[in-house]
Amino acid sequence: MPEPVLEFTDVVAGYGALTILNGFSAEIAAGRVTTLIGANGAGKSTVFKTLFGLAEMRAGEIRLDGEPVGGLAPRALLARGVAYVPQGRNLFPTLSVEENLELGGVTLAAAVRRARMARVLERFPRLAERRAQQASTLSGGEQKTLEIGRALLGEPRVLLVDEPSIGLSPKLAREVFATLRGLADAGGVTVLMVEQNVKSGLAASHRAIALEGGRAVLEAPADAILAHPRIRSVFLGGHVAQTVSGRAAGGA
Ligand SMILES: Nc1ncnc2c1ncn2[C@@H]1O[C@H](COP(=O)(O)OP(=O)(O)OP(=O)(O)O)[C@@H](O)[C@H]1O
Ligand SMILES: [Mg+2]
Repeated sequence: MPEPVLEFTDVVAGYGALTILNGFSAEIAAGRVTTLIGANGAGKSTVFKTLFGLAEMRAGEIRLDGEPVGGLAPRALLARGVAYVPQGRNLFPTLSVEENLELGGVTLAAAVRRARMARVLERFPRLAERRAQQASTLSGGEQKTLEIGRALLGEPRVLLVDEPSIGLSPKLAREVFATLRGLADAGGVTVLMVEQNVKSGLAASHRAIALEGGRAVLEAPADAILAHPRIRSVFLGGHVAQTVSGRAAGGA
């Protein structure tokens, strides 16, 4: 397995009186797609929010390239090459595709921003064709692609994406997953995503980490989890196991 670029060690984190992560430990391999799976409320988004300072980290350590980054401001994380696409819709709906993209590069010199925007539009022709269109008029998949494209303006080495397939048809979801996989395979970007759409999410992933009760309970190659129903049912408790077998049975 490649060197870990991001390491979580015994992280305890939460919100006010609530503790959500109870000793979360995981190593995220460089240049791979790793997917966090687990039931609603297991703490998947809280892993990302802890890194970005939106949840309180109470103990443990988060390291990027071996250096502690727990408690760094989002801007400092971005400067170190970590970008975050949160769960849900995060575009300015009345602004155009191009204007939304531009907002991913407000801290850059104009010439650099223009060059990076051109590269992103080249990578995503569907966005290029719709560059003057209002973001709200894009399809769900195109909107997620635009959010990912906006994050790419920072040229991240590590991209965190929370539930990219929410609200998308299976076909659009596969397209978004393929985009993320392409960023890792062709661009060397380390992708860490959260996904409830276990079957197609893992199909595009190298590795998977299952969360239960705020801890990592399983870390394995994604194809091993997909290929072995027994591993799925033994290691993936309740909701995840049902999601996997339900989707496998439904062929989605
Ligand atoms: N800002 C917040 N303040 C208080 N509690 C929160 C906050 N954000 C999340 N929580 C709580 O933390 C727990 C874990 O939430 P989290 O969003 O990490 O779960 P998740 O695994 O991403 O779930 P889902 O699959 O539903 O997105 C939940 O019980 C949630 O209510
Ligand atoms: Mg979540």
